Amino acid sequence: MKILGIETSCDDTCVAVIKVREQKAKGKSFEILSNVISSQVKLHAQYGGVYPFLAKREHLKNLPIVFKKATEKIKKFDLIGVVNGPGLEPCLWVGVNFAKDLAKKLNLPLLAINHIEAHILANFIKVRSKRKKAKGNIFPAICLVVSGGHSQLILMEEIGKYKILGETRDDAAGECFDKTARILGLGYPGGPAIAKEAKKLKKKTLLKKFSIKLPRPMIHQKNFDFSFSGLKTAVLYHWKNQPKKIRNSKEYIRAMAFEIQEAIVEVLVKKTIRATKEYKAKSIFLGGGVAANERLRREFKKAIKKENLNVNLFYPPQKFCTDNGVMVALCAYFSWQRGKRKNWKKVEANANLKIG
Ligand code: KG4
Ligand code: ZN
Repeated sequence: MKILGIETSCDDTCVAVIKVREQKAKGKSFEILSNVISSQVKLHAQYGGVYPFLAKREHLKNLPIVFKKATEKIKKFDLIGVVNGPGLEPCLWVGVNFAKDLAKKLNLPLLAINHIEAHILANFIKVRSKRKKAKGNIFPAICLVVSGGHSQLILMEEIGKYKILGETRDDAAGECFDKTARILGLGYPGGPAIAKEAKKLKKKTLLKKFSIKLPRPMIHQKNFDFSFSGLKTAVLYHWKNQPKKIRNSKEYIRAMAFEIQEAIVEVLVKKTIRATKEYKAKSIFLGGGVAANERLRREFKKAIKKENLNVNLFYPPQKFCTDNGVMVALCAYFSWQRGKRKNWKKVEANANLKIG
């Protein structure tokens, strides 16, 4: 079975085709036949964030080209999955309308895919034999989906059964990376830029020298919500209060980038581990662009060890943490298996679509 996945919810135009084999003896296996992404990063970099109508215009221009590239060697496919939310409404419609036209033209089934679920199921993308074998049962699992637009903690009872435990009350974790990177004059996307600068910090004493200590918002609160806008404000005020010579120095930028990453990572890890214990989860699934962060992954491993938790930690291969069509196609396969069928005429974009 060949499945086409289309994703246009934010600033990447993505199309991929996967092949699923169902063999009795070996079980299921997925093969990535194509994976094409046209990134708008350069366009949005000058503004330090994504402008929905500019992004929509680019999707309209790029989607037919990306689709052609992703399908040129593939004669036919059997199923189409398209992300219909959550995301930027004008952008979502580009993918949805394209997919509906295609489904009609080729007389194929079309499934509406939740972007958050696709980020979670990206954990099932296997790249060669690299993925670790899970120990025992993997459900229930706690999923942390952290990207430019979302920060959610989700309980997954099984594939297809989700409950949101908490989410951000303001900015998403990736958004916080992006906005603080902009203050520091680093590029967009901010996550990788902050991580790169943080890695260069050799002397932690610089944090003391510049009196850098950021808050860990909501870390001690018993709920599973997040809040990152205060962190951005704290960075802005600290930065504004420095003489130009200091705030433009490599030392200051590295120290501040380090502390921004520490603050975000600490809150994400603490709250996820608490949810894992409370719900007696057997696994932790990371997903979304911020899950590509090496420090986040390392701190999760450390926390699991320190707390002596018997859980599997999963995160997708780095290039599948950020938006891509493979996760959408894979999610379409799992939905199809669960018997999710919908008339293509009824698929609509929904910017605020909830998982569960
Ligand atoms: O999932 P994604 O591609 O798009 C959305 O659905 O929003 O995530 C993009 C976000 C951006 O905010 C970017 O700064 C962040 O993921 N990101 C990272 C890293 N790579 C991407 N954040 C921290 N560390 C990274 N290595
Ligand atoms: Zn995403």
